[in-house]
Amino acid sequence: MNDPDDGQKKLFEATKKVEEVAKEIASDAKSDDDLVVVEDINAKSDEDMVENLNCQKIISSTFVVANKNIRTSAGGRDYITLTLSDRTGQIDGRLFPDGGVQDIFTTITNGSIYKCDGKVNEFPPDSGKYNIVIEHLMELPSDEYILEDYIRTSSNDKEKLIKYIISTIKDLENIELKNLLKSFFCDNRFSKEFYIAPAAKIHHHNYVGGLLDHTVEVLKICKTLTELFPQLDKDLLYTAALLHDIGKMRAYDYDNVSIKMSEEGQLLDHLYLSGEMVEEKLMEVKIPKDLSNQLLHIILSHHGAVSNGWGSIVDPKTPEAVALHYADLLDARVKDMFK
Ligand SMILES: [Fe+2]
Ligand SMILES: [Fe+2]
Repeated sequence: MNDPDDGQKKLFEATKKVEEVAKEIASDAKSDDDLVVVEDINAKSDEDMVENLNCQKIISSTFVVANKNIRTSAGGRDYITLTLSDRTGQIDGRLFPDGGVQDIFTTITNGSIYKCDGKVNEFPPDSGKYNIVIEHLMELPSDEYILEDYIRTSSNDKEKLIKYIISTIKDLENIELKNLLKSFFCDNRFSKEFYIAPAAKIHHHNYVGGLLDHTVEVLKICKTLTELFPQLDKDLLYTAALLHDIGKMRAYDYDNVSIKMSEEGQLLDHLYLSGEMVEEKLMEVKIPKDLSNQLLHIILSHHGAVSNGWGSIVDPKTPEAVALHYADLLDARVKDMFK
């Protein structure tokens, strides 16, 4: 069985670049020039991407094994079929071992990255459909591939987005809200996960880093709204923007192959989970009850009126709650149009 924790582990290992920037928040001291950018040294070439495997050729490239099966040929020979994927698509692979098909099949792990040596073939002939006849298959250790080659990830500059969040937190005047945000974003484990989490399974921002993109976009819309409506409580609105979807970190399970709803995501939904995560922090970081109620209200109502059935637990009843709801909706809707 594929250990579900493996996918998470690989994501963490492959996003060291992000982790280094995450430490910026904790250190709170370095200048922009100190940000370290790690080169993508083992990236797949464009010609090896699945979308370009459309002619007969010898190939030596890397893929995620998304699925595996044992089949029997018309001649009675057992062989292994693999669904191989990268961020551009999927292609079938066939492996014809001389013997021990079951033993080899057992060693192949769904969700892991493999180097495949073989030949791209058109099959059936003149069908325009291609597969790979694999001659050699080897699992790659996590430091020998770049995760972004295999799954859809944000194309935005993560460092810039993280710095935007850091500077927003630094600029807050309300010390209680600032301390609450720091208790999340100075927690290395939380911030690492936040920066790679998807924001959705099917709809807007359904890719690794989607939560970071969405959160910063909502935050920017909120900053525009506070210029238009200076009566809005800026610190409260920005805090809510940063925390409104953190429950998505628990609402989805994701690995090299797919993004799925977790059990608690299905049963509790991310609005409740976001609220619960904030409530848990409020046991350590004390803020006045009326302020925490305001913040939780914005989070629990950010999908709009209860009657529209989008998951709000309560109707938005404050100016900040209405502002965050529309900022959230605007970002999601516009992003959907560009998919
Ligand atoms: Fe949400
Ligand atoms: Fe959202």
